[in-house]
Amino acid sequence: MRLFAALELPETVRAEVELFARDLAPGLPKARWVRRENLHLTLIFLGEVEPARLPSLSKSFRGACGSCRPLSLAVRKGGTFPPRRPARVAWLGIEAAPADLASLQALVAGLSRAAAETVSFQPETRPYHPHLTVARPTEPWPLDAVEIFTTAAARPFGREFEVGSAALIESELRPGGAHYRRVESFAFGSEA
Ligand code: 2AM
Repeated sequence: MRLFAALELPETVRAEVELFARDLAPGLPKARWVRRENLHLTLIFLGEVEPARLPSLSKSFRGACGSCRPLSLAVRKGGTFPPRRPARVAWLGIEAAPADLASLQALVAGLSRAAAETVSFQPETRPYHPHLTVARPTEPWPLDAVEIFTTAAARPFGREFEVGSAALIESELRPGGAHYRRVESFAFGSEA
């Protein structure tokens, strides 16, 4: 099974991002916009995992999440990837107070260690840059489209929201696009 770990977002946040995308999409070149139900904050991408490894993966993730405290996050600003080049991915940023950002980074590091110990996972060498992918251009967007997206994404996206758990999600690639299914959710420790 193809797995990743992510933070699920409150419905109000996903609805707001969907409205933003719906307003913007007609003025931009073609892209596959992420459906509202699929919007999430990826923590680590595991790729193919043997189903038989799930119990040990799950146990180690429970430990990693138990030592994270609830996070207060906000969706703020956005950009495209790769930077200053025609865009292959359009994303919205995640903003948090330094302590929450540090906890988020520690959570990603903890999950990476847990995954490396239980399944054949190669931890990411690039720094973790929390973002919500909102669109994947069919053909890379030219720089004027990048500018339209980045300018529109500079508007506020509502209040901060609290996240109290992480999820292990199965991604099934179907002809109409990825289909995600939550395998398990792991509560953060309130005292951590
Ligand atoms: P993205 O949002 O930055 O595109 C499920 O595919 C999730 O895992 C996506 O949200 C994607 O992040 C993330 N992911 C990270 N590395 C990936 C990879 N090599 N292949 C597919 N998805 C990946």
